[in-house]
Amino acid sequence: MIRKPVVLITGAGGEIGHGLIAHLAEAGTQPVVTLDVNPLEPALASKVQREFTGSIMDKSLLERVLSEFEVDTVYHLAALLSTRSEFTPVTAHQVNVEGTLNLLEFSQREAESHGRPVTFLYPSSIAAYGLPSLEAKRQAGRVREDDYNTPSTMYGCNKLYCEQLGRYYAKFYKQLAADTQSGRVDFRSVRFPGLISALTVPSGGTSDYAPEMIHAAAKGEPYACFVRPDTRIPFMAMPDGVAALLRLAAAPKAALTRTAYNLAAFNPSAEEVRQEVVQAFPHADITWHNDLKRQGIVDSWPEDVDDSAARRDWGFAPAYDFTKAFRDYLIPTIGSRYGK
Ligand code: SER
Repeated sequence: MIRKPVVLITGAGGEIGHGLIAHLAEAGTQPVVTLDVNPLEPALASKVQREFTGSIMDKSLLERVLSEFEVDTVYHLAALLSTRSEFTPVTAHQVNVEGTLNLLEFSQREAESHGRPVTFLYPSSIAAYGLPSLEAKRQAGRVREDDYNTPSTMYGCNKLYCEQLGRYYAKFYKQLAADTQSGRVDFRSVRFPGLISALTVPSGGTSDYAPEMIHAAAKGEPYACFVRPDTRIPFMAMPDGVAALLRLAAAPKAALTRTAYNLAAFNPSAEEVRQEVVQAFPHADITWHNDLKRQGIVDSWPEDVDDSAARRDWGFAPAYDFTKAFRDYLIPTIGSRYGK
């Protein structure tokens, strides 16, 4: 065999990539190849077989990956998050939509070339929802996948559309061609809540107030929270996010009834996050400084989501509730991050 079967991770140096690479490297079942616009940190780079530094917009780079590796699984993590995307919506579209199209097309070519379907994991987001008002948000409670699909952000529009693009590749790609072309890309997507990692701080997101609050407290720095204390959206501890992607990737295809699944773990208000942070770091200095515009975005996201389809179809079961996320994951891990 000339080319080696591998897992490809785009945006590998980001928040999710950190945890995912650690797990895949430890499992050791398939070598990992990465693509990121920035070089990986040395500790991460040492865990992967090959690192490509470049953009998902660079088709000739994707051709090089295709020519060298047999990719069986793609974790397409590269994206511009919601706050950043509002400042540069056209770039967001290029990276988030055209970049995803490039990876879907890449996966189709891979599958055609090695003759097996490529499993394509795509992190979508609660940003795919758009609740019209705070009142509607409160009344809606646990939102189901097919309701309120009217996002108000560029990022949310991009994510929702790419879910549909993935479904198209999986089920209808070139449906009028003489030979069936669809099904070669086995597209599987989760709508992540806000993710909280002990190892990295997100950049450019709008759910970032929770992780920023926690990391600032751990570092002993003051933090002014940009949303109101009563703001409520779902969050998840990063290990559960990574576990969800791995579990969905391993699920038998016949068990899957959807291509995009909600995931829920806990949904504290910003004030409840503050209280938990203060308990963990008694010297935490957290104040409220409401940014009305970013608040508007968070207010359009559901306060909770119905994840019964993920639980039923592929056994999604988060290990961390709110208290456990702090007690067993964030507090023990974050201390070493800042050398405390
Ligand atoms: N956490 C993301 C953001 O805030 C939403 O997926 O942009």
